[in-house]
Amino acid sequence: MGKKEDNQKFLEKKIVQHKAKIGIIGLGYVGLPLAVEFSKAGFAVTGIEIDKDKVRMINRGECYIRDVKQSELEELVKNNRLEATQDFSVLKDMDAIIICVPTPLRKTKDPDISYIMAAGEEIAKNLHKGQLIVLESTTYPGTTREIILPKLARRKFREGKDFYLAFSPERTDPGNKIYTIRNTPKIVGGITKKCTSIAVTLYEQIIDEVVPVSSTESAEMVKLLENTFRIVNVGLINEIALICDKLKLDTWEVIDAAATKPFGFMPFYPGPGLGGHCVPIDPHYLSWKLKALNFYARFIELAGEINIKMPEFLVSKIDAALNEREKSIKGSRILILGIAYKSNVADARESPALDVIRLLKERGGRVVYNDPYVPQVEGLKSIPLTESSLRNADCVVITTDHSVYDYKQIVKNAKLVIDSRNATKGIRDKKIVKL
Ligand SMILES: NC(=O)c1ccc[n+]([C@@H]2O[C@H](COP(=O)([O-])OP(=O)(O)OC[C@H]3O[C@@H](n4cnc5c(N)ncnc54)[C@H](O)[C@@H]3O)[C@@H](O)[C@H]2O)c1
Repeated sequence: MGKKEDNQKFLEKKIVQHKAKIGIIGLGYVGLPLAVEFSKAGFAVTGIEIDKDKVRMINRGECYIRDVKQSELEELVKNNRLEATQDFSVLKDMDAIIICVPTPLRKTKDPDISYIMAAGEEIAKNLHKGQLIVLESTTYPGTTREIILPKLARRKFREGKDFYLAFSPERTDPGNKIYTIRNTPKIVGGITKKCTSIAVTLYEQIIDEVVPVSSTESAEMVKLLENTFRIVNVGLINEIALICDKLKLDTWEVIDAAATKPFGFMPFYPGPGLGGHCVPIDPHYLSWKLKALNFYARFIELAGEINIKMPEFLVSKIDAALNEREKSIKGSRILILGIAYKSNVADARESPALDVIRLLKERGGRVVYNDPYVPQVEGLKSIPLTESSLRNADCVVITTDHSVYDYKQIVKNAKLVIDSRNATKGIRDKKIVKL
């Protein structure tokens, strides 16, 4: 057995025996649950995080992500299975390193891969033979090979022989109680076949089904296909909502009836706009990449155009409903219910509710909000949801359909309810106006 083969076999042995040390760069919505899953499986996991507050909280066993159980985290930290640090030099002790840093858009809608580059540079400084590196952050096809690989590969230090590099997209669905890390199949594509095979072995330790693909580019594209599928279908159904509005039809009735077809139809639902860290952002990574190849990704751009108009459409519905009651947005007290970008999560990033609030304030509305999971946002504080806060509002707008809300009580006490999520389904009352 040659030395190069030794590297692979040695690492694989450590992985299957759960003796490999795992470093996770970025302990956010993706990195922390992954770190917890690996340490629950018996691995020693170190999170490398630039935010000192998060590092301090983890090392005290305090959890800041709703999907991670506080008691589990506490136990893992107490038993030295999980720790966090700001010190990147620990990377040199790691057998496998997984990058889970943010990939936002710049104001110009161009990808901001500076976080990936920074993580790549720290890994390069600490790289040793036999290490596996996996990028999980969502990005455009080519990033792993074009951005990370050149930082790591040097003379006499070759990918697939001396170290291993792969891309594996994250499929986290915050708040989803059915599909967790373990039972959500995981895609893995390596720079070489050996890279793929070792990364597959790593994820098989914590995930029931790992699906290898032929390259890092293919794995990067899988994630963008998944999110493009969502953005386009949401764009389509939002346009159907605009069409139904023109035709004075109930969009929700039409969708529910269409969804009784047992084949060839998958229901998507309209709403106040797209939110979250993934769906509104990731497809733009793809269209940006394609522009450089003189290809215009029309579906993505069109869906983006429709989705971005939805907060304005909702505000026009609020305006019309108040007008019916001889009121205007200006001067009206408007209570927004739900700031999180989707139900039952605490994440308000890119939330369309924030756009709705901004538009209402621009028109002179006196806006307040309640969200049991988001105590404050952009200078506003969540107010208690009480009979009097509902009664005091000229209009109550449901922007996020959290399940803890008692919609019957909301309708009973409110003067006017604008429901952008069909949260009041089954409740019949003339004061409800749906999107
Ligand atoms: N949140 C989701 O539901 C989700 C789902 C699928 C994919 N993703 C993708 O996963 C990636 C991470 O997303 P997230 O939601 O976990 O982001 P996040 O902002 O919650 O977490 C990222 C963490 O990385 C830290 N960080 C930034 N730069 C760092 C660096 N150089 N070194 C160490 N730590 C650093 C940040 O402080 C933060 O704690 C993104 O590419 C995102 O698109 C997210």
